[in-house]
Amino acid sequence: MISDVSSQVSTAQAAPFSTATMARFAREVSKYPAEQKQSAVMACLSIIQQEQGWVSPENEQALAVYLGMAPIAVHEVSSFYNMYNRRPVGRYKLNVCTNLPCQLRDGAKALEYLEKKLGISAGQTTADGLFTLQPSECLGACADSPVLLVNDRNMCSFMSEDKLDQLIDGLKNAEAN
Ligand code: FES
Repeated sequence: MISDVSSQVSTAQAAPFSTATMARFAREVSKYPAEQKQSAVMACLSIIQQEQGWVSPENEQALAVYLGMAPIAVHEVSSFYNMYNRRPVGRYKLNVCTNLPCQLRDGAKALEYLEKKLGISAGQTTADGLFTLQPSECLGACADSPVLLVNDRNMCSFMSEDKLDQLIDGLKNAEAN
């Protein structure tokens, strides 16, 4: 009886995921021994983010049920890595490294410049939904400072004010055309 109830709860909590998403989860889980399916947590969080743009608390809960993990363990992963969006973000997420080596080479200045240019503070999204600006931990490219990462994929190095202008104006133009 208890197991009937818990399987109903599991089904209800897993509801946010589509069949296609569940198939992608299953592919990731199949890469590990059955008793270590929790190892797929990062890949599954990435899938959620690719499909929904961010990882909501409800999705963390449902993923915990799916992987047989404590919800807090999933939350610890999603909150540790800043590539996971824990709230909706703009079309272009700009992560500017402000860790110490970059601080010494204009990382914070680049972030401030973007705050002024975009008219938002770090952590905010522009009113048109185009840009989210946030500080970032080390991106592994300290020698190229100031550096920023666009949408967790495209690294931009040696970002002088001129290059920041080119980046933002180029992305705005691309959207307008
Ligand atoms: S400290 Fe900025 S990339 Fe390493």
